[in-house]
Amino acid sequence: MSDSTSSSPSRREFIRTATGATAACALVPGTLLPTALSGQPRTAPGAPALHLREAEPKVVASGNGHDFRNGGEETCVEVVFRLMTEGEDVLDAVIAGVEINELDPGDTSVGYGGLPNGDGVVQLDASVMHGPLRRAGSVACLEGVRTPAQVARAVMDHTDHHLLVGPDAQRFARNMGFPIEDDLNSEQSRELWLEWRRRTDPSRWPSAEDREQVGHQMGLEMVREGLIDAEHYWGTINCNAVNARGELAGCTTTSGLAWKIPGRVGDSPILGAGLYVDGEVGAAGSTGRGEANLFNLTSYLIVEQLRQGMHPLDAAMEGLRRIQENTVESRLLDDDGDPTFNVNFYVVDRSGRHAGVSLHDTGRRFAICSENGPELVPFESLLGE
Ligand code: GLY
Repeated sequence: MSDSTSSSPSRREFIRTATGATAACALVPGTLLPTALSGQPRTAPGAPALHLREAEPKVVASGNGHDFRNGGEETCVEVVFRLMTEGEDVLDAVIAGVEINELDPGDTSVGYGGLPNGDGVVQLDASVMHGPLRRAGSVACLEGVRTPAQVARAVMDHTDHHLLVGPDAQRFARNMGFPIEDDLNSEQSRELWLEWRRRTDPSRWPSAEDREQVGHQMGLEMVREGLIDAEHYWGTINCNAVNARGELAGCTTTSGLAWKIPGRVGDSPILGAGLYVDGEVGAAGSTGRGEANLFNLTSYLIVEQLRQGMHPLDAAMEGLRRIQENTVESRLLDDDGDPTFNVNFYVVDRSGRHAGVSLHDTGRRFAICSENGPELVPFESLLGE
């Protein structure tokens, strides 16, 4: 692999394109970018055919990245790996992959059929980051669009901004031509919400504080009873990839915490919290309790550890340790003083080395796809079972 200061022709082209976009954005704050910029190619025009191999191509994702097919043949990680090795832009490939989960109603943690908020409304968060272009986009509390990662990419491609939220994010999506639906609940997500409502009946828990506490307890009870997949309670798919040129991209997309207070935004759309990609270094993203990442900006921390030369596994463990150190409230600790919640990280560096780690060992696995094909791999955990 070449050192971090060398530039392949294509990378130089990427950087030139990104620099041009930044200059133009400064001229038109708060407006959509001109078509000439928004339609900029993500791969270098006229770039020579790929001969140099700078990295082992690799896709790393949460386990749902190799669990769902939305009625098709391939899972998220398979699609991403195939598209990027066919020469698609690495972020295009990642977004095409996570879209399988966003559209599959069986994945109740993401997109259409994601578990709704406390009012029964599906509110989605997503972010995307493109390493070579050094660009990013995200949306939060977006309603009515099945594919929030695509909307996040439209924010990246067509505006000078990084984050749009709520009804205005929806208005932006409508203006960009995305179909808007009244309700993204599937039959399953609505039934689960009705069950949660039954268990948290406001007439039994009149105070707002009690309702908040009971709402969370009932959510966890439904997880324990097997009504909700534990990984779907905090939702989310994260997927990161590096192609043979060492070009990195990542996406985190989610329906967020099940039964959340309307308006709650998790870590997924916040750059540095639920996702961070540095095109020179690596990519990290997360699933699990988003508040832990909002407090610690853990994905950014992990990428910074990669920058210091750490292996992805050591860097990711450092992120988990930071979360553990900063979790001091008794309501979040068990009898041993360990966090009661789980957080997972998925990391790939610019050479294709990867890691998947979790705070607790729950027996879950994460997904990778390499030249050896797709695999579900056990997490390394910080705290054991
Ligand atoms: N990690 C997803 C969330 O907390 O919303």
